[in-house]
Amino acid sequence: MATTKKINVLFSAEMIRRRIRPLAYEISQCLDTSQELVLVVILKGAVMFGADLARALAPFFPLLRVEFMRLSSYGNERKTSGEVKVELDLSHPIEGRQVLVVEDIIDTGTTLGYLVRLLQARRPRTLQVAALLDKPSGRHAGNGGVHADYVGFEVGPVFVVGYGLDDAGFYRALPYVGVVED
Ligand code: XMP
Ligand code: MG
Repeated sequence: MATTKKINVLFSAEMIRRRIRPLAYEISQCLDTSQELVLVVILKGAVMFGADLARALAPFFPLLRVEFMRLSSYGNERKTSGEVKVELDLSHPIEGRQVLVVEDIIDTGTTLGYLVRLLQARRPRTLQVAALLDKPSGRHAGNGGVHADYVGFEVGPVFVVGYGLDDAGFYRALPYVGVVED
């Protein structure tokens, strides 16, 4: 059974909790706190990070909205298919608004590159990206310009799970980020 494999902890729940506060503060210093901010949380992977970041941002942004999008590129495979599909779109327009995309991890950069182009076409006032994890070693050559404005942690060339990240649907609910021992 997939769920009984050993997980080596990379970022503990405490480390994540301690990283989110300064991240929220940094975001509040860079964006206009007097204006509406639309968080675009990417399902399902960013659900934990999105929930914690939203609560950390709330004291700074009285006009905070939390929206969701669901994209698919991976299916049940660990490697990107290269194709991105919108499975659930925003329920609210973003034109003229400050937008912050909240992602779990940037690997090849294909998903985020596609998403940024899609959202930019809707003419937000500003569009930035916060990613819990960045895996720079995974970036595809054509996605060199794809980056997050705010990053929780950098990871090496490993497949990570937990705190929203899954392996074929498992491990998402773990309160920490770790690596599955094979
Ligand atoms: P790309 O390659 O498009 O991938 O930047 C982004 C999406 O791929 C998933 N992904 C992972 N999921 N552990 C996971 O559980 C990983 O190490 C990993 N690397 C990429 C993730 O859904 C992300 O949004
Ligand atoms: Mg994802």
